[in-house]
Amino acid sequence: MWRRRREDGDGGRSDGDRAWEEFSSQAERRAPAERRAREERRGWLHWCPRLRTVLLVLLLIYISVPILIRLFPVLVTKFVYLNLAFPFFVDFHRPELLLNNTINLYLVTEPGVTVGIWHTVPSSRGAEARGKDQHWYEEALGDDHPVIIYLHGNGGTRAARHRIQFLKTMSAAGFHILALDYRGYGDSSGHPTENGFTTDVLALYDWAKARSRNSIILFWGHSLGTGIATNAARKLQEERGVQVDAIILESPYTNIRDAAAHVPITKIYRQFPGFEYFILDSLALGDMFFRSDKNVQVLSCPLLILNAEDDAIVPPHLGRKLFETAHSAYKDKTKVKLITFPKKLGLGHDHISFNLELPALVKDFLNIK
Ligand SMILES: *[C@@H]1O[C@H](CO)[C@@H](O)[C@H](O)[C@H]1NC(C)=O
Repeated sequence: MWRRRREDGDGGRSDGDRAWEEFSSQAERRAPAERRAREERRGWLHWCPRLRTVLLVLLLIYISVPILIRLFPVLVTKFVYLNLAFPFFVDFHRPELLLNNTINLYLVTEPGVTVGIWHTVPSSRGAEARGKDQHWYEEALGDDHPVIIYLHGNGGTRAARHRIQFLKTMSAAGFHILALDYRGYGDSSGHPTENGFTTDVLALYDWAKARSRNSIILFWGHSLGTGIATNAARKLQEERGVQVDAIILESPYTNIRDAAAHVPITKIYRQFPGFEYFILDSLALGDMFFRSDKNVQVLSCPLLILNAEDDAIVPPHLGRKLFETAHSAYKDKTKVKLITFPKKLGLGHDHISFNLELPALVKDFLNIK
């Protein structure tokens, strides 16, 4: 039909077609040629100047962030530590609003630095614990139940939801847990630094050791805290010849440089020219190393690595690599174990302590009932 009309020439065209042609040729005459050309050059952004400004600003930010980070590596420490007062409005003095069998205490870890700690006793002692003071809790630490020094990950405080869940799970499983906020976190004083964290953890270890009698003490690190756990264990071994009784690393990485190269937040910069120079090298300039891969090569205490296949923050292949490094370095291979939780459980980066099997797996590894 269309074709026939074309062949018919003008004869097949409607009045509407003609009116439209008339209208457009008038419009063309009205619009000066240069203006049309200018509009063509500007393209679609011409239609939305505000969007253009927004995109320019975003581009400027995108380019300046790596440069600023390189110039001021302290900025990258802020991104890594994320020591924000989150969750908001937590009264650290009253853990009972969030948790049973728990007391809040403070420890001076070096002159001028005081860290906040929650001590949760095994829930089997919950009834006794009600209304007791710190003296009772300190006594309880020597009751033969194993003691976990819990080293949380970056971001927020010991009151974060998944950390509370960890305390509940392990308390129900018969563990004491000492959960500290490192310097610069929560209600602790000071500023976050890698060496400072190690000092805080070792001070807490000494404090616990002085009260725990024959109980075993283990370091349990989660995420960023896994690097803190291996740092502390290594220092304990190298400077004092003391082995912590066990280390459990939940969602770990090999070292902070590797982790930064794989976490989602740096994804938009991986193609950026000089990604290593601007971002990864700045971690070292900011005094952040967290070399678990080096640390596990000198340790010899039992080491359990836990990760989840669906970890979207620290990819599980980093945990596997850490396990392989430890496994090939350890003389006694039976002391190193990797447990990977399948994707279908949906545990991800933060929720391994929500898994009901966890206490049994941990006790099995530690050879305790
Ligand atoms: C503490 O334990 C009691 C009794 O088992 C329970 O009702 C309460 O919800 C618990 N409190 C918290 C904050 O979990």
